[in-house]
This record gives sequence, C-alpha cells and structure tokens, in this order.
Amino acid sequence: DSPAAVITIDGPTASGKGTVAHRVAKALGWAVLDSGALYRLTALAALNQGVAAEDEAGVARVAETLDVRFEGPHVYLKGVDVGHEIRREEVGNFASRIAAFPGVRHALLERQRAFRLPPGLVADGRDMGTVVFPDASLKVFLVADVVARAERRRKQLIEKGISANLQDLLRDMRERDARDTERATAPLAPAADAHVLDSSDLTIAETVQAILDFWNKAQAQA
Ligand code: CDP
Ligand code: CDP
Repeated sequence: DSPAAVITIDGPTASGKGTVAHRVAKALGWAVLDSGALYRLTALAALNQGVAAEDEAGVARVAETLDVRFEGPHVYLKGVDVGHEIRREEVGNFASRIAAFPGVRHALLERQRAFRLPPGLVADGRDMGTVVFPDASLKVFLVADVVARAERRRKQLIEKGISANLQDLLRDMRERDARDTERATAPLAPAADAHVLDSSDLTIAETVQAILDFWNKAQAQA
C-alpha cells in the first residue's frame, strides 16, 4: 500500500502557514498537522517541570515522554486543554530555542509521521518537506516579506486585545528567523522540489487557491 497523500507547507513565522494549511485541508477534506504545536507543547511541559531551555538532555526527555492529545481544534497536555497557553510569546520563544536540539527533533519525528492517514494530510512547519515527509505529494515553501509578516502578527495581536509595537515585533521576528534558518539540525529551508510561494501581496484566499492549483496540476500529471 502506498502511504497517504501529504501536502507540506513550510516557512517562517507569520507567513500564513497555519491559516492556509487549515483551509487547504478543509477544501480537500484532509487532516492537518500543526507541527509547531508539538514544539510549543514540549516547551510548555519543560517550563511546567522547571527544565531549563539550556538543558538539552532534560528537554529531550520531556519530548520523549510528552503526554499530548489532539482533538479537533483542542490540544491537551496531561489531559489539560492548553490550546491558548501554548500560543503565549514566552512559550514560542522557548520552543524556537529547544527546536535546535537534535534529541528533541528526533523524539518528535514519529509522532508527526503518525498523523499521515488516508485520505490525506496537510502538514505545516519548518521541516515538513525536508525531513518529516521527504516523499510528500506536494511541497510548498510559503514566504512573505518580514514587514508584511510583522504587520500581520500585530493585527492578530490587536484582534486579541493585546497591544504590540511593530519595531519590537520586527526585531523578535528577525531573531526567530535567524534561529530557525541558522541551526545545524533541520534548518528552515525549502526542499529542492518545493514550490516557493510569496504571499506578501496575496490574500489568504489567493494563497489557498494557488496551493490547490499546484495540487490539481500535480494530480493531472500523475
Ligand atoms: O507561529 P510560529 O510560526 O511563530 O511558530 P510555530 O510554527 O508554532 O513553531 C514554534 C517554533 O517551533 C518555531 O519557532 C520553530 O523554531 C519550531 N518548529 C520547528 O523547529 N520545526 C517545525 N516543524 C515546527 C516548528
Ligand atoms: O502559521 P504562521 O505563523 O505561518 O502564520 P498564521 O498564524 O497562519 O498567520 C499569521 C497572520 O497573518 C494571521 O492573522 C493570518 O490571518 C494573516 N495572513 C494574512 O493576512 N494574509 C495571508 N496571505 C496569510 C496570513
């Protein structure tokens, strides 16, 4: 049996991966894997257990023993719904630091692959097309100008009632981009066979359509 179809959507923070992945999955009737949530869950579990971000072996152990459950839009850590908590900036920053550890990435590998079930999966993250699903049916690398991304993030925060300064967001985003692209293990980079899609001037709907067009074209050729 050939494995279920996978569409991978990788890219930097706030390029729109999560939003677009959910819509593409909905259009196709497929499941979605938010791989960043696994790194955020590991970060939150480490924070809760008082394991420091520098403690590579300790954080890897946390990843290996992670007790998580995904249920629709909900995500549970040890039975507690932490969907909102993992979105905190502190958790995201911790996540981006521990994501550099090979032991952490290794511990999360099979958990991610387990999401691949018929009829198909849309997986978003940093290394979905390069490491986790190298045989994916379609690979997209979603980029957008850093200023456009910072503005999107600011709007997102304002909608949640959180004020945010564009300069601070830009600085944080550049730091996060540097950490994600410069790490030795699974750095953020397009797979050789990825379609690089720049969404700086695209709406969400246009971005989703572009990906569905890639998919339909690939299907027609298969
Ligand atoms: O929302 P944002 O794009 O900032 O982050 P996320 O996708 O929730 O991921 C949080 C952190 O986990 C990122 O900064 C990455 O460093 C890391 N990550 C990763 O290394 N590999 C993945 N496949 C997904 C996330
Ligand atoms: O998952 P990732 O961090 O890549 O980004 P996201 O959380 O899906 O998107 C960040 C924000 O940008 C969300 O508020 C999206 O609605 C918005 N967005 C946009 O305005 N235009 C796009 N083409 C894509 C996303």
